[in-house]
Amino acid sequence: MCEPVHYRIDYEINPWMRRANAVRTERANEQWQGLRETLTALGVAVELVEQGPDTPDMTFAANAGIVIGNRFIPANFRFPERQLEEERFTRWFMEHGFLTETVHEPHYWEGEGDVLPADGLVFAGYRFRTEFRALDHIDELLGRETVRLELTDPRFYHLDTCLAPLGAGRALVYPRAFTAASQKTLMEHFATLIAVSEHDAARFACNAVLAGETVVLNAGCAETVRALRDHGLAVAETPMDEFIKAGGSVKCLVLMLDAFTEIDGRGRP
Ligand code: ARG
Repeated sequence: MCEPVHYRIDYEINPWMRRANAVRTERANEQWQGLRETLTALGVAVELVEQGPDTPDMTFAANAGIVIGNRFIPANFRFPERQLEEERFTRWFMEHGFLTETVHEPHYWEGEGDVLPADGLVFAGYRFRTEFRALDHIDELLGRETVRLELTDPRFYHLDTCLAPLGAGRALVYPRAFTAASQKTLMEHFATLIAVSEHDAARFACNAVLAGETVVLNAGCAETVRALRDHGLAVAETPMDEFIKAGGSVKCLVLMLDAFTEIDGRGRP
């Protein structure tokens, strides 16, 4: 995770961001600390990377890349506004003993925002940020084919804004963020798809993190919370609206260091 010490809305690169809608710094920091404490209480070990003054979106650590065992694959950010983050994230991984392997430029892709493991498979979203072609190389690096999903709604521009794999064949999903063909692909691969309403999707209900059997998500998604409980999952709600101003919530603020261990077998260095 990356403490939001320099988090601001300096530019507009997704439909949520408005420079006029300034971040309330104090509140953002409280919300971020609240998320960190929630995750820690659930047994998640949190490590921190330092935010640079020139990288206001770096707090959305999920976009740094993906971590496959002892390898870090850094993102190629689509917008120049975020490209400065690449060096900072890469430095952290080098200092922590990871090997860095890069995706062929110039294909854009944005890390765990668009590439999510689930039940031994890897799902990849493309169109708004990640390019289809970048995924060919991700497939090579992973040694397997990603299940590719085409996104359709610019408000849900990363896969992690509309899909949250929850283990055991379960996932939270906002179906209308996907093409009809990709909705079908999702149905073929998940035994239990919990569809969220547009209201909850717009509150980033799908931008959730699973910690053990607890789903951590933004506050104010009552219908989704009920559905998750009906499926036997515990829920921890934590307010994230200062981050939704920039188009992110719980999952965007977290990069998993062990998400691909199941795929790769190797642990971190
Ligand atoms: N303002 C950031 C951007 O538009 C938000 C990133 C959200 N991250 C995510 N994993 N969905 O790039």
